[in-house]
Amino acid sequence: MSNSGETELIHMFKGIPFTTRSSPELLKSLDAFVAREDDILLVSYPKSGTHWLAGVITKLYDTQVTLTSPIEFGDISKLEELNNVSSKRIIPTHLDYNMLPPNFKNKKCKMIYISRNPKDTAVSMYHYYRDNPNLPTIDTWTAFFDLFLKGNVVCGSWFDHFLSWEEHEDDKNILFLFYEDMKKDLPKVVKKITLFLSLNVSEKDIQDVCKKSSFSEMKNDTEKENSDPSHTVCALTSNRKLIFRKGAVGDWKNHFTPKQNRRFEEIFNEKMKLSKM
Ligand code: A3P
Repeated sequence: MSNSGETELIHMFKGIPFTTRSSPELLKSLDAFVAREDDILLVSYPKSGTHWLAGVITKLYDTQVTLTSPIEFGDISKLEELNNVSSKRIIPTHLDYNMLPPNFKNKKCKMIYISRNPKDTAVSMYHYYRDNPNLPTIDTWTAFFDLFLKGNVVCGSWFDHFLSWEEHEDDKNILFLFYEDMKKDLPKVVKKITLFLSLNVSEKDIQDVCKKSSFSEMKNDTEKENSDPSHTVCALTSNRKLIFRKGAVGDWKNHFTPKQNRRFEEIFNEKMKLSKM
């Protein structure tokens, strides 16, 4: 982070960097959050495809659902705001498993965790840092690469986040999805989501949802403001235009040097040695 004046954009909570858009008072109060049995949580490390997943899921319901802003976004009034939502709530979050309000766990709410190749996640996050005024200035990809590997970025270490959730991958109420699988065969992943959420959606409607959720459709909707431009499911911005950048698999190859790739692989292998990934 190049500019010391910008450190005020970030504060630490339980050892994890958050932007000031997540107030310390709200973060402290999350333990007391009252979940509802039919809440659905959309969980991700930033830049893993959260908006894509949210776009798909909201289109699968024919009853009224509310896609809220992220649970950790805002100030202390957030709890009341969410409490006032009368329809079924779909709640996004970037929190790691240990910080999740315990009531979601006790009530066994359904949770969907979406993950993405951390190399592509790092590149996506680098561009997000550069474009997003709520995040500190980053001078170069090299500088960001180091911060990412150290976990010195918003939401902390990708590895810690992923591992905290992966530990619960056998929990019946948690579904794990991968961005790359959505790119490869979206209808297959959507079918999996409908089974998990016990939704009865025809093959034709699944195809239709997939078509409307393509990168180009979602980007166009945002540019034409067919969707609310300030409704994001990322606690780091209220500008949807910052979300739809490239939507590709493997963009890391355009950024990583061979040396950076070797270093990333070394750290990945060390940190993930107990992971099934
Ligand atoms: P890139 O920056 O690599 O393009 P999030 O929603 O978690 O913030 O993730 C944003 C990333 O998901 C961005 O990646 C964005 O382009 C990509 N994305 C958003 N909608 C998508 C879609 N419909 N299809 C593919 N990728 C999408």
